[in-house]
Amino acid sequence: MRHSLDVLGPDGVQRRVVLLEGEKLSQITGRSCEDRRCGYCVFEVLEGSPVSALKPDERLALERDESGLCRPGRRLACHASVAGPGRVRVPFAWSLAEVHE
Ligand code: FES
Repeated sequence: MRHSLDVLGPDGVQRRVVLLEGEKLSQITGRSCEDRRCGYCVFEVLEGSPVSALKPDERLALERDESGLCRPGRRLACHASVAGPGRVRVPFAWSLAEVHE
């Protein structure tokens, strides 16, 4: 199933993208570090329930935050996957080059 996500980027521009359910949000940030703990792929959910529930690996990475970017309410795009439509904000890493609209 495909879901529409409105993505507010660090440039202040909102774009609508369509992603497959289960795809990682790293499609939007363009980041996927080796140990999935760097924190630079953080994003925030603004509306809806567009991403999968927090799993233990992601929770641990957020708690160990090596970047100082993992504030409450933020998620990691390299861990979270698409679960439905909604609106998210990506404050730092950004790449829509690989997203199929
Ligand atoms: S890309 Fe490093 S934690 Fe997600």
